[in-house]
Amino acid sequence: MSDDDAAPATRADASGLGIRRLRWWDVPAVAALDSAVFGADAWTAEFYWAALAAPGQSFVVIDADPGPDDGADDPGARAGIDPAGSDTGRGSGPARPGDPAAPDPADTVLGFAGLGVSGPQADVLTLASHPRARGRGIGQALLGHLLGSARAAGCEAIHLDVRSDNHVALGLYTAHGFTEIGRRTGYYTGADAVVMRAFL
Ligand SMILES: CC(C)(COP(=O)(O)OP(=O)(O)OC[C@H]1O[C@@H](n2cnc3c(N)ncnc32)[C@H](O)[C@@H]1OP(=O)(O)O)[C@@H](O)C(=O)NCCC(=O)NCCS
Repeated sequence: MSDDDAAPATRADASGLGIRRLRWWDVPAVAALDSAVFGADAWTAEFYWAALAAPGQSFVVIDADPGPDDGADDPGARAGIDPAGSDTGRGSGPARPGDPAAPDPADTVLGFAGLGVSGPQADVLTLASHPRARGRGIGQALLGHLLGSARAAGCEAIHLDVRSDNHVALGLYTAHGFTEIGRRTGYYTGADAVVMRAFL
């Protein structure tokens, strides 16, 4: 049994959203949501396998279905994923013959985030919420969790890169104490990278 298998999932956090450690069996769903969010820049399942094995890196996920006792049948409906439409064009995915209730793997996850820790420095590796569950505090909860984890690891500062035209993410990070410390010109297709840092 690996350390990951043995570790208890974190079910409670300040947001009440049930952030827990990303496990190896979550990779297909998280990679599907990553693809829906980041498109050509998405991390593949293979990348996640490698990232999960890398020292100093940890990932968390929020399930669309937080548990068996919440009285709804549709995982997306339970967690507030809007079933009517998608700004990724994926919708809920076509039902497979003989399995009409099977959700799109991406719809089983509300959000995910990754943290890298190296000595006193931490990095936000990735962070995203489901396109149809935005504006409901998922991004704040995930970022708050990463900041708490970095503090718990004894880090003094945390860095990240974000597209200069990603105003929602820039607002989220600024609200959590990040400030711009530099730019990488043309780092992304069609945009600079804003390098941000927060002291912990
Ligand atoms: C950035 C992202 C994670 C925010 O997720 P979210 O679940 O919508 O975040 P929250 O609901 O916690 O909202 C956080 C802040 O984002 C801003 N925000 C959220 N939705 C917004 C919208 N539609 N328009 C403008 N601002 C918005 C608000 O400032 C909000 O703060 P507030 O609650 O004080 O108003 C999400 O938009 C996302 O996954 N984007 C694509 C991936 C990405 O850009 N990741 C970051 C890469 S560095």
